[in-house]
Amino acid sequence: MKKEIVVSGIRPTGNLHLGNYFGAMRNYVRMQEEYDCYFFVADWHSLTTHPDTKELRNSVLHVLAENIAAGLDPGKVCLYVQSTVPEIAELYLNLNMLAYKGELEKTPTFKDKVRLQPDNVNTGLLTYPVLMAADILIHRAKYVPVGKDQEQHLEITRNFAQRFNHRYGELFPEPKAFNFGESLLKVPSLDGAGKMSKSENQFATLYLADDNDLIRKKVMKAKTDSGPTTPHSEMPDYIQNLFQLMQLVSEESTVQKFREDFNNAAIRYGDMKKQLAEDMVAFITPIREKAESIRRDEAYLKKVVEQGAEKARESARETIAQTRKLVGLNYF
Ligand code: ADP
Ligand code: TRP
Repeated sequence: MKKEIVVSGIRPTGNLHLGNYFGAMRNYVRMQEEYDCYFFVADWHSLTTHPDTKELRNSVLHVLAENIAAGLDPGKVCLYVQSTVPEIAELYLNLNMLAYKGELEKTPTFKDKVRLQPDNVNTGLLTYPVLMAADILIHRAKYVPVGKDQEQHLEITRNFAQRFNHRYGELFPEPKAFNFGESLLKVPSLDGAGKMSKSENQFATLYLADDNDLIRKKVMKAKTDSGPTTPHSEMPDYIQNLFQLMQLVSEESTVQKFREDFNNAAIRYGDMKKQLAEDMVAFITPIREKAESIRRDEAYLKKVVEQGAEKARESARETIAQTRKLVGLNYF
């Protein structure tokens, strides 16, 4: 039986962190056995925020190395770099004719970016969701493993798929967000405000490249208070966040112990953070070390990128041939 198709991308805009790992990469790794997977580094998307392009090569290779270190096997999945598949740009062009300025302006991520970079509201930023839809539809994917923050982009992708099918003829399935848990995950930041992120609040985010001392320092600085004074108090959200993080990397019995301590108003947050720090170190160290060694092996990475491009383009060419036929762009 043909396997179902999965697509997902990560922008090479900084070091990967626990949010990327638990929100996205962990699902990629679990999906690689059962699905026909296309995972890519979204280098074109990263240009919308005008990064220092001298860093681009290193960032792209670093993200690839971290994904492989986290368990992705380039022999099992198609692992590629977005800009090596020009067919995506052609589909993006087609989809732009079906995208309306008003709906793109309403996208929450666009509004966020307008606030963050008011001097650089480029059209690439506005059409970011169109390019993302092209990334997904180019392989006619059914599932997209992403974190909660990407749900709206998927909704837009489904709209474009529908519009294309309606206007030109049935071609695209309507892709859905995918997560092995029941709900999409948001990994909170250590300062109790918002989520871990590549670019914001660096000291409240744990990166897969952080060394052990830095991990310990960050965790020990996480926001707490003097603790509950009565049993079964309501848990403040920054403490809930710490429990949520512990749940990701610690033994169930450890989490349980601190939960009981909290409920008995006997918790010592210093001890809890020490434990969390050690469990984070144990979790991150092997991934960091493996990523460093893969990153140094440029010959291997070159092979991964070439092999990925070849496989991704094969699937992309097929979709483009069909879109040209349906749109009426094949003249002889
Ligand atoms: P960032 O938001 O740090 O710039 P990206 O936007 O490139 O990261 O996200 C790459 C993937 O990681 C996406 O699927 C996104 O949903 C997921 N992700 C990012 N941050 C988190 C988080 N804190 N919790 C859960 N998933 C996240
Ligand atoms: N927009 C995604 C993010 O910021 C990255 C991305 C680009 C993506 N194209 C995609 C994710 C296609 C899934 C599928 O995280």
